[in-house]
Amino acid sequence: MQTLYVELGERRYPIFIGSDLNPQSLLAPYIHGQQVMIVSNETVAPLYLEHYQQSIQALGKTVATCILPDGEKYKNSEHLNLIFDALLQAGFNRDCTVLALGGGVIGDMAGFASACFQRGVYFIQVPTTLLSQVDSSVGGKTGINHPLGKNMIGAFQQPQVVLADMSQLDTLPDRELSAGLSEVIKYALLGDSGFLVWLEQNMDGLVQRDAHLLAEAVYRSCAHKARIVANDEKEQGERALLNLGHTFGHAIESYLGYGEWLHGEAVAVGMIMAADLSHRMGWLSADDVQRTKNIILRANLPVVCPKIPLDQFLSYMSHDKKVLNGQLRLVLMKQLGKAVITKEFDVELMKQAILANQR
Ligand code: NAD
Ligand code: GLY
Repeated sequence: MQTLYVELGERRYPIFIGSDLNPQSLLAPYIHGQQVMIVSNETVAPLYLEHYQQSIQALGKTVATCILPDGEKYKNSEHLNLIFDALLQAGFNRDCTVLALGGGVIGDMAGFASACFQRGVYFIQVPTTLLSQVDSSVGGKTGINHPLGKNMIGAFQQPQVVLADMSQLDTLPDRELSAGLSEVIKYALLGDSGFLVWLEQNMDGLVQRDAHLLAEAVYRSCAHKARIVANDEKEQGERALLNLGHTFGHAIESYLGYGEWLHGEAVAVGMIMAADLSHRMGWLSADDVQRTKNIILRANLPVVCPKIPLDQFLSYMSHDKKVLNGQLRLVLMKQLGKAVITKEFDVELMKQAILANQR
């Protein structure tokens, strides 16, 4: 097992990464109070809930559960309320812990519930998708969707601990694994050319779910995210680098309708558009763009998106959260492994980069 820390002063917390981790011993120091609410969903609970429930009960804690339906479409206020219902019906008080057992949807919802319930209780993340292990469980962004926008209602709520168990990835569908690999590739492209070389050497093993390689990829990804979050917890600057490919990807997801393409798939094509634009700006070489495409392809991710009318694509991009004072900012690459946040890009070249990477 490897451990790394998100250094946030008094709110510093560990991320445990390994296989067949023992929740009883690893979580014991981080469970506050006597009451633990495990929030999961109808897919993950039959696979892993009993193990966590028994491990925590063995610590002498009272465990209650809240099992939500599975899917992004349930990441809303109505289903958030079910978590509050469960907490109140179980008679939980301010000194309780909410544990998220699932992917990013469950992590975001349970985290937000823990930020709101009685003005804030303790929170633990047990991410069970690769995407949630490398991204959503770390850094404290939590929330729900609003009919008018994704992730529009939320709070920063850092967990006490993150437990990322590679054994749980065995049951993950292939497409979800690839979506997680997209975010892994993102860390390499935005900040670590050495990691990119490592991914080029090990992508086949990652796709075949080699647990040691997955643990290494999760560790290196989380190390990047932890460093960035420690420097810029509330996204005043550097943290926006984590959105490489996301502004283009957001337009793809919005046009296709959320759920049609997975987030990681849209981000994959978004990263290619960002690389292509960086090339057109004279920052990346044609070989760099090809390298970006190759690694994405090897992770079984799409490299082009369906044809989307340009005016609609641009309109969706303009709704991105990185629009500041009416000006779109993009995360582009000065080199592979060195991203920047910039509003200094040529809009005509951006249009070319979008059109060049559609079917
Ligand atoms: P998800 O939570 O919907 O999980 C994907 C699917 O895999 C679901 O059907 C889920 O039930 C299933 N699943 C989960 N673990 C499994 C396992 N071990 N075995 C088998 N099936 C399993 O999706 P996700 O990709 O994990 O997360 C996406 C969500 O995360 C989005 O809502 C996104 O907004 C959010 N997100 C948040 C942040 C953040 O910083 N908070 C960052 C990125 C994404
Ligand atoms: N997923 C981007 C962030 O946590 O900031």
